[in-house]
Amino acid sequence: MTIEEHIPAAADAMSSGKRLGTFDAFVELAITTARSGRNDGLAITSSHPLLNGAAYLAFRKTVDIKTRREIGAFFSSENVAALLASKLLGVIDEDALVLDPTCGIGDLLIARAAHLPLHETLEKTLDAWGARLAGFDTREDLIRLCKGRLCIMARARGGFDEEIDPLAYFPNILVQDIFAEESHGLLSSADAVVFNPPFGKIVWHEKLDWAAGKINAAAIFLDHLTLKIGPNVPVAAVLPEVLRCGARYGRFKSALAERGYSGSFEARGQFDSWTDVDVFTTLLTRSDGPLWQSPIEPANLSLGDRFEVRVGTVVPHRDPLAGPERAYICAKTTPAWSTFTPTASRHHTGRAFLPPFVAIRRTSSPSDKMRAVGTIVEGDEPVAVENHLLVAIPNDGSVQSCEALLALLQSQAINDRLNDLMRCRHLTTGAIRSLPWKLLDE
Ligand SMILES: C[S@@+](CC[C@H](N)C(=O)[O-])C[C@H]1O[C@@H](n2cnc3c(N)ncnc32)[C@H](O)[C@@H]1O
Repeated sequence: MTIEEHIPAAADAMSSGKRLGTFDAFVELAITTARSGRNDGLAITSSHPLLNGAAYLAFRKTVDIKTRREIGAFFSSENVAALLASKLLGVIDEDALVLDPTCGIGDLLIARAAHLPLHETLEKTLDAWGARLAGFDTREDLIRLCKGRLCIMARARGGFDEEIDPLAYFPNILVQDIFAEESHGLLSSADAVVFNPPFGKIVWHEKLDWAAGKINAAAIFLDHLTLKIGPNVPVAAVLPEVLRCGARYGRFKSALAERGYSGSFEARGQFDSWTDVDVFTTLLTRSDGPLWQSPIEPANLSLGDRFEVRVGTVVPHRDPLAGPERAYICAKTTPAWSTFTPTASRHHTGRAFLPPFVAIRRTSSPSDKMRAVGTIVEGDEPVAVENHLLVAIPNDGSVQSCEALLALLQSQAINDRLNDLMRCRHLTTGAIRSLPWKLLDE
């Protein structure tokens, strides 16, 4: 189906000989519809195409995928938007200021607007909604379309047909970067947040306490958001599963938990048929309770549920001495069964690992007294690790977890198990991940 078939105003333009070539042209047609409130002389209803997929369709058809990926513009379906808006019902009151800090074409705000009261006129309704809805997006065309669609939503719900200027309303829906200084005011005054941030992997320009290297943008946006909003502000969000389950995001989750956030989750599978990212929905609040806890029985936990396990990335005789200078450890110089801070360094371009973590020697044989010899590595900077070592990084980022792992590796039960699993000399990440954590608790 073409864009023109999806939006009567666009079809009009086509029949009068104009071509609908660009997204800007589509946005202008949408603003015209929002201004006059008429399509082919008919009043707007809730089944209007601009409230039912035409806007996202036009965006996908006229803006290339590279641009859409760069800004993470994957908009919420009506179902997800309605679900997130419903999470706030009963949690905030009708007058609350609800912010979508990455609002795109406004689907989450439209879902919130479905619960806001109507007033006698369109103007009064839009004034009232404008005091309760806030949003940022870095693209002006998306903000224009967002405002136009909110006007169309008000028309559909109230049956209003007076002419208005859609862009004169919603003073808190702004072309603005969530990270910009100017955004702090609305971030700190919002009463609730609806959130579907960009999901792409990026290298962040500032040092983060909880990760290094390429990171999912959703974690960076959520990190910033939760540092800036008020203490009792609920966040209804759709987020990529990797934030909940990915071993690399354990520290991020610990940082959220330390800020007092908790919340359950619903796994929702693939975001939509155009976006192959598994997502979950959640309501984050500052309250006692677990954060995105998976229902695994503690008795069935394995080491891989608590640690990310990797092979060191430095191959000394092969890798060029290039890239940033990093602290460096290798199997020969890492003291067994102790805690140490690396003093050696080398240049390395590959992944480096932020302490604390446990380095485990990869090479051992069944005749050795202990199969998996560990060392706790501490320090403030990422460490380049030789590939004769495995790296076990605790999801909670704590030294206590590293100490617990060292104790686990020293137990005879684990030694016997590794000897059964591994007759060859090299320990594998799979074997280490599969070790049962419960042996330690026994
Ligand atoms: C995943 S879309 C979500 C849009 C909308 N919340 C929804 O659920 O349909 C993310 C949006 O964030 C916007 N964006 C990207 N970087 C941003 C930034 N630094 N500040 C504000 N918005 C940003 C993109 O333009 C895009 O429209």
